[in-house]
Amino acid sequence: MIYFDNSATTKPYPAVLDTFVKVAGQFFGNPSSVHHLGLQSEKLLSQAREQIASLLRVDPEEVIFTSGGTEGNNFVLKGVAHLYKNRGNHIITTSIEHPSVQNVCKQLEAEGFHITYLPVDENGQIRLSELKRALTDETILVSIMHVNNEVGAIQPIKEIGQLLSTYPKVFFHVDHVQGVGKVPLDFHESNVDFATISSHKFHGLKGTGAIYKRKGIKLKPLLAGGGQEKDFRSGTENVAGIVAMAKALRLTMSDFERKQNTLFEIRDYLMNELSKINGVLINTPNIAAPHIVNFSVEGYKAEVLVHEIEKEQLYVSTTSACSSKTDEPSQTILAMGLGESRASSSIRLSLSYANTMDEAKEAVQIIKQAIENLKPVMRR
Ligand SMILES: Cc1ncc(COP(=O)(O)O)c(C=O)c1O
Repeated sequence: MIYFDNSATTKPYPAVLDTFVKVAGQFFGNPSSVHHLGLQSEKLLSQAREQIASLLRVDPEEVIFTSGGTEGNNFVLKGVAHLYKNRGNHIITTSIEHPSVQNVCKQLEAEGFHITYLPVDENGQIRLSELKRALTDETILVSIMHVNNEVGAIQPIKEIGQLLSTYPKVFFHVDHVQGVGKVPLDFHESNVDFATISSHKFHGLKGTGAIYKRKGIKLKPLLAGGGQEKDFRSGTENVAGIVAMAKALRLTMSDFERKQNTLFEIRDYLMNELSKINGVLINTPNIAAPHIVNFSVEGYKAEVLVHEIEKEQLYVSTTSACSSKTDEPSQTILAMGLGESRASSSIRLSLSYANTMDEAKEAVQIIKQAIENLKPVMRR
C-alpha cells in the first residue's frame, strides 16, 4: 500500500499509540481532581503543554488544548468576533480558506459581520497591497491560512504580520493546520495573535489539537462549563490524547531539516514526472509546502481516477478530504484562476515524512497506467 493522503489525515506513529494506551490506562485520573491520581494527570498535562510550547517556541500559558482544527478555527473566529464586536464588525480572510474558516465566516456574515474574502494570484498567494486596501477602522480580525490544504500554496505570514503590527487593534489569526511540522513559522516573530493546529495531521490522534493565543489577549470561550484551560475551554481534558500529541509533534519535528529536504526531493520528482504525462497539468505553485502535489487531468473525472488509482493500492484524494464527497470543483484552483475544467478534475497527493522515493516512483507508474486505462471511457 502507498498512502499519499496525509493532508486528509496521517497514520499515528506506533510510539504515539503506545503513549496513548499507557497514559489512558495508567493515568486515568481527572486532572481537576485534588487527589493523587488527579495530580498525576495534571502533571502529565502540564508537561505536554510545556513540550508543545517549547516546540512551537511560545510560552506554555499561550497553549490552549482543543479537539482539533475545526474547533480551533471556530473558537478564534467566533471568540474574537463576539468579544470585540463593539470595536468593529469587519473581518478579513481569503477566498481559499478551509471550510472551518470559510463556513464560520458565512455564519458571522448572517449575524451582521462584514467579511472581505481576499483574492489570490496564480500562485495561490494574496497580495499585501490588497490586504492593506481592505483594512478599515472597523476591522477587528485578519484570518489567513499558512499552507493551503488543496494545492500547498504558502502565504507570506511574516510580511502580513509586519503589516498588521502597524494596526494594533486588528488581531491576526493563522490556520497553521497544514503547516505545522512542515513549514516552520515563528508566531512571536511574525506578530501572530492566534494560530490553530491539529494533531492528526502530524501522526497524532484525531480529536486533539490546540490553539496558540498570545499572552494577555482575551477571547470569548466557545464552550462554557467547568472552567478548564483557565476558563478558555471547558471540558475534561483528553490527557492521553494531549500527551500523545506532544509526542507526535516532537517526533515530527526531530531531524527536521533532513526530513524536509527529502520531502522536497520526493515532491519535485512527482511534479516533474507527472508533468511529463500527456494531459497532466500541475496546479501546485512554485512557492509551496513540501508535502502537497496537486494536478489535473483535464477531461477526466477526478473521483473515477482516484478509484482507478486505488485498485493498485495507491491512496490519494480529489481536492480536500472535506469537499471530496460533494463533487464540487476545487475552490482554491478556481480562485487561482486556473479554470473550471482544471478545478473539477484535480487530484491531490499529500506526503508525510514516512513516504519514500521508491513509493513516489511506483506512484507515478500507477497514475500513468490509470490514466491510460481510463482513456477510452473517461474522455468527455
Ligand atoms: C487547513 C486546514 N484547517 C483546518 C482543518 C480542520 O482540522 P480538523 O480535521 O482537525 O478539524 C483542516 C483539515 O483538513 C485543514 O486542512
